Amino acid sequence: MEISLEHNKSLKELTTLQVGGTAQQYVVVRSEQELDTAVTYANKENISITILGGGSNVLVAQAGIQGLVIHMKIAGIESKVQGDVVMLTVGAGEALDEVVQYTVDNGYWGIENLSHIPGFVGAAPVQNVGAYGREVQEVVESVRVYNIQEQKFEMLTAAECLFGYRDSLFKKEDGKKYIVVAVTFILTTVVTPCLTYRDLKDRFIEEDVTLPEIREAVIEIRSKKFPDWKTVGTAGSFFKNPVIPEKKFEELSVKYPDLPSFPAGDGLVKVPLGWVLDKVLHLKGEGTEKVGTYKGQALVLINRGDATADEIKLFADTLIQKVYDEIGVKVEWEVTKLGF
Ligand code: EPU
Repeated sequence: MEISLEHNKSLKELTTLQVGGTAQQYVVVRSEQELDTAVTYANKENISITILGGGSNVLVAQAGIQGLVIHMKIAGIESKVQGDVVMLTVGAGEALDEVVQYTVDNGYWGIENLSHIPGFVGAAPVQNVGAYGREVQEVVESVRVYNIQEQKFEMLTAAECLFGYRDSLFKKEDGKKYIVVAVTFILTTVVTPCLTYRDLKDRFIEEDVTLPEIREAVIEIRSKKFPDWKTVGTAGSFFKNPVIPEKKFEELSVKYPDLPSFPAGDGLVKVPLGWVLDKVLHLKGEGTEKVGTYKGQALVLINRGDATADEIKLFADTLIQKVYDEIGVKVEWEVTKLGF
């Protein structure tokens, strides 16, 4: 099988932050055979492999990415309904939001709260994508992967994916050998709304809500908090919300009695960094001419025009330092750095 390689391909346009350099080599793969051919080529040449999906959660280095960038475009949606259980298998290159629309149209419950999240399905298990009370780990049945080292396809169960908050096996050293090829979601035709997120709970009565209503509400809530990624350079939440010991939280609550928190198990709590950046550091909508926090949500960074990747990185790392200096909490990037 032939694949069509490009050299020095500009990646900026392929990311929602709209910054970054070029891929030394670049290939689009649309089938499992093409993926196998691309990986075989990279292994033979002994060059590194980087996977690009929807480009909505990455910062590409200004100096670009060495080796081969594989742009994952394997498509396909297949559903198997048995009783009220729906097994939905989706190619990694499908846009997540189109899959959500498909499930809403077909009356399949489970991922409607993930409406309007940008990006491709392949990234969903990597990031354990989540929003408005739902995390993908709750509905992933299995993940079909390609093992780069052994050059073969394998199936991982949800348990094997080691899901955590915006975390999974695929982010750990052990999991870097896998490329996500398809995801099987386990959904249901039984009416099972997830209304734990406050903004949703306030709007609906549980027994009387439809899938299109939830999708519409989520889209409306999101539109107030996020800029339109089709017109503004953004990668959604730029940082993870810090998970801290309850004791540390109690200390902070003395100084900041309104600081929200969410239980995270094992004596830990998650605190919303957006609140800290906004209410403690007063940095909502602030920044430089080129990069800043979004006026509607301080956890979201925006490229205000022609920022470089280095300027965005510097701005992000400066925010991390300010948070540490002010409240003594270490913050991690949620966005993945590519080529740094
Ligand atoms: N807040 C402020 N000011 C701000 C931002 C937030 O006061 O500028 C407060 C809010 O009022 C709220 C709390 O902080 O009380 C949390 O804010 P929000 O509900 O907007 O959620 P978040 O914690 O900032 C997380 C996810 C989002 C997801 C939303 C909704 C992470 C890193 N982010 O954001 O996911 O859409 O919850 O569930 O966990 C993403 O991962 O890219 C992402 C967008």
